[in-house]
Amino acid sequence: MSRAASGCGGGVAIVSGGASGIGAAICRRLGEAEAFRAVGVIDLDEKGAGRAAAELERKGVAAQVGIVDVTDVEAVQDTVDSMVSVLGGLDAAVAAAGNLAGAPLADMTPAVWSSVIETHLTGSFALVKAALPALRRSPAPSVVLISSVAARGIAGNANYGAAKAGVMGLTRSLAKELGPEGIRVNAVAPGFIDTPLTRRHAEQNGLRWEDFAGAAADESALGRIGAPEEVAEAVNFLAGPAGSYVTGQILFVTGGP
Ligand SMILES: NC(=O)c1ccc[n+]([C@@H]2O[C@H](COP(=O)([O-])OP(=O)(O)OC[C@H]3O[C@@H](n4cnc5c(N)ncnc54)[C@H](O)[C@@H]3O)[C@@H](O)[C@H]2O)c1
Repeated sequence: MSRAASGCGGGVAIVSGGASGIGAAICRRLGEAEAFRAVGVIDLDEKGAGRAAAELERKGVAAQVGIVDVTDVEAVQDTVDSMVSVLGGLDAAVAAAGNLAGAPLADMTPAVWSSVIETHLTGSFALVKAALPALRRSPAPSVVLISSVAARGIAGNANYGAAKAGVMGLTRSLAKELGPEGIRVNAVAPGFIDTPLTRRHAEQNGLRWEDFAGAAADESALGRIGAPEEVAEAVNFLAGPAGSYVTGQILFVTGGP
């Protein structure tokens, strides 16, 4: 019997960027959680999103795929509306879609600046805005955004650092605005995590993965880089009932500090 049919866990989650890396790990983790019986996977990558949904379904978790660019606010609304109607509600919205394209300031084109600002900041705005009507009907609604340790400053990727600092401001502002309605809004700020994004970044900059990851590991107190599953665990805490009195917080998952 499927988990949905057995009535195990009543919640529905939607995860943007669910096709790869941290977002895919979040889909898996929420799918295993008692609190959730269904997960909607939003991404641009049709194949990856299909894989994530198939993995959920194999475990008896209902899944829906939405192929949409998170910067297209109206299209995100349509996608979320259709997922909410098929999956029967929405309790947690997680915005994990992200890209990384940088350059030193003197060489950064407006297009590169905008693509990163739009994906992270407008993409987070679009998902929460689209989710809001359904979250208002949930008995335990929550939002989790993904910021980054890069919000503290990152040379050569000022657009990314600015976008991730913006995500922190968005989190705290929406927590204040939506708290009176019982909607919790938090963010996770990961450090250096082994994902396709960081591996691509190393390759594009002509760096050996071992050197790039090794340097990042040296900067963390634990002396190692992180795994997507370790970020997903923090997201599950904030999204589900364990985090019921936590809102407006940024949880750093960096291996310290
Ligand atoms: N990997 C890290 O070290 C790290 C650290 C801190 C924060 N983050 C953040 O975590 C999130 C996930 O990153 P990741 O490392 O798993 O990257 P990833 O590249 O593995 O996954 C990102 C996913 O987002 C999707 N995506 C990108 N732009 C999109 C758009 N416009 N519309 C819809 N989908 C889109 C991609 O197709 C991909 O599936 C991002 O917000 C990233 O900035 C990552």
